[in-house]
Amino acid sequence: MARGVLPLLGMRALAPRRPLLLAALALSACSAPGSREAAPGEATRYLTGRAWRREVLEDALWRPDLPYSRSLLSAYALPEGGWDLLPVQSPLTAPFTRADAESLARGEALRMDDARAFGVPAEPETAPDATFAALGAEVFARLPMRADAWLDWLAGRPELWPEVGLSVNAAGTVRGLVRFADAEGRVRVGLTCAGCHAGDDVPGRGDRRLDLGRGRALYAAARGLDTDTLETWGPGRVDVTDTDSDDPTAIPDLFHVGRATHLNHSGVVQVSSRSTLAVRFETQFVQGHRMRSRPERRLMWALATFVSGLGEDSAVGPVPTVFTERCARCHDPARAFGGDLVPADALAVDPAVAQDPERGTGAYKVPTLRGVSGNAPYLHDGSQPDLPALLEAGHPRGDVLPAADRAELLRFLNTL
Ligand code: HEC
Ligand code: HEC
Repeated sequence: MARGVLPLLGMRALAPRRPLLLAALALSACSAPGSREAAPGEATRYLTGRAWRREVLEDALWRPDLPYSRSLLSAYALPEGGWDLLPVQSPLTAPFTRADAESLARGEALRMDDARAFGVPAEPETAPDATFAALGAEVFARLPMRADAWLDWLAGRPELWPEVGLSVNAAGTVRGLVRFADAEGRVRVGLTCAGCHAGDDVPGRGDRRLDLGRGRALYAAARGLDTDTLETWGPGRVDVTDTDSDDPTAIPDLFHVGRATHLNHSGVVQVSSRSTLAVRFETQFVQGHRMRSRPERRLMWALATFVSGLGEDSAVGPVPTVFTERCARCHDPARAFGGDLVPADALAVDPAVAQDPERGTGAYKVPTLRGVSGNAPYLHDGSQPDLPALLEAGHPRGDVLPAADRAELLRFLNTL
């Protein structure tokens, strides 16, 4: 099936569908199209329309030449075959508890007798947004988004959880971990969206303590494998690529996603509708389960509805002149102080992730500055420890502002 698609890609690679990078620096004052609102009938189109899903995918992957895009284009929403033929993952899940860890440690199989399905509305196409948003919150917390051998290993070793940043709540459950049956019917441990994106138990907040790189390294060391590159991710960072080089990126907050024009630090996915999010989560799930199963689409629509609604904005005080003059052309006050893509060489940052051979676009996305004071460390790679350091290093590129201006900016950033 991939064969029919690939020759086309070489040609498209020469002409990305939309010249976004060129537009990015000539930022306009108008606010971005939001993905927060679904178009009338969009749920039905996503849930029942393969051609619509394909259109959404092709629109999202504005750099079809990249390997990340190619692997999705060769497998998702094809006229026949591809990932549509995968078995749908069982929707039954249960929280992973300390007691489960103890049974794993004793070499027992995990139980599933307490597992629950999701409350999918009877007529999903016509269900109101609020119903989907509530279901999406549950999916965010309970659906296993990926499964890994090292996670199964780690789950049975609670003594290692503190150093990996896995936390146990008062009810004895581990945030972000669930039990589920995989495509082969094996009961194992899955990592949910909340595992990475619910720091301090706030859904949508990037977890800045979670150190999955450490977890992988401990697993590798226990198996006598080479751990040189594995330990370098650091807390709050994950390498989402399959390349050999180590490019960990900060786990982002999701509070601005409903208004984002692009997803991921390098903006490899262009967002034009809520369906874009649903398709991205669907493909993320399939890849997270090694192309062995696909998720129930109604759950993906619910997840997209929930994520688009995260982060209602509170009022902001007057924007200081120095911000308007030096920052607002990228950090647009009308877009939660975020924006489009900026070529990496316009910034004093490591360009490695922007140039990643798998999904680099040459650019970085302008992140929202809402809630920024609580988000240290900063930038796509978490390389700046705090806001004064970021401004002292010269941001966007090189030229450091006078101390009085920096102090005024810091005061303002702390109010966002
Ligand atoms: C293993 C940790 C992890 C898990 C689990 C995870 N994410 Fe992420 N997520 C990340 C990282 C890291 C990025 C940044 C990726 C990049 O820049 O390439 C990201 C990016 C995103 C983005 C783009 C945000 C932006 O500002 O561009 C969205 C939306 C998102 N994740 C939603 C989800 C949802 C929904 C789930 C559950 C289906 C999920 N994530 C599961 C780590 C994770
Ligand atoms: C040319 C566009 C541009 C301008 C102008 C700009 N920024 Fe940024 N800013 C970016 C981009 C792109 C990033 C993300 C870089 C990365 O992820 O490595 C960023 C990141 C940041 C961050 C880190 C946010 C986080 O959560 O990690 C802060 C804080 C910030 N900018 C503040 C400012 C301030 C204050 C000004 C004005 C002095 C400013 N920026 C001017 C493009 C810009």
